[in-house]
Amino acid sequence: MGEDQAPIQIAAIADVHCYEELRGRLRYELEPVNEQADVLVLAGDLTLYGKPEEARILAEELRSVRIPMVGVLGNHDYEMNHEKTITSMLRDAGVAMLDGDSVTLTVRKRTVGFVGVKGFCGGFGQRLVAPFGEDPLKAFVRVGQTEAEKLDAGLRRLRQDDTVDHLVAVVHYAPIRETVVGESPELFPFLGNSSLCDPIDRYEVDVCFHGHAHYGTPFGHTPRGIPVYNVARPLVRTCVVHALVSPRSLTPLEL
Ligand SMILES: [Fe+2]
Ligand SMILES: [Fe+2]
Repeated sequence: MGEDQAPIQIAAIADVHCYEELRGRLRYELEPVNEQADVLVLAGDLTLYGKPEEARILAEELRSVRIPMVGVLGNHDYEMNHEKTITSMLRDAGVAMLDGDSVTLTVRKRTVGFVGVKGFCGGFGQRLVAPFGEDPLKAFVRVGQTEAEKLDAGLRRLRQDDTVDHLVAVVHYAPIRETVVGESPELFPFLGNSSLCDPIDRYEVDVCFHGHAHYGTPFGHTPRGIPVYNVARPLVRTCVVHALVSPRSLTPLEL
């Protein structure tokens, strides 16, 4: 196999929940990705309580990573209302932080497009909460819909770009029910939102990574068969690596 055809290795981890205790430790946990992968994905809950100091520690620990990094925020990163500061600190540390936007990386002459959003709660499939009744409930539902619309718009743009060979979706909340199984069923509506799954299937993403469901299931598929990894650190312990093989033949996009 020529080097151009060699699989592109995407490493991913979520729910690092960085805080003082991880100072000087996380760098050793992350360092192997330099040999194992071409890109590192950080799928949200990067800090424990959303404190800038926690993001500063993470930024220092990430100095051991020499491959490109792509990330999204998680709900914990919003806890202190410092999400903008955390985003800019991680950008300064070299992480392409995404919130509905995208980044493309060229690895061995192939272009990988990443689209990321945090996502939100809401539930799955026929049990997806509906915008009916009180205004606060409608507002809650609307947040989830907006996140899915941002993901849709970002993936649509990249899917229309002929130079993009692979598409990767990065979210914090789960897009499918399968990877939250293991958590208490009462929590399922707060662990993800299947509206996120629709664009992943529609634009035939190669792979999706998420976190948030610390006690969920590491791997599942969308209805269309797209691989979905729950890379929550408490669940998987260390970075999970997915190989992108040669570009697939895609169904013509209905615009
Ligand atoms: Fe988390
Ligand atoms: Fe979370």
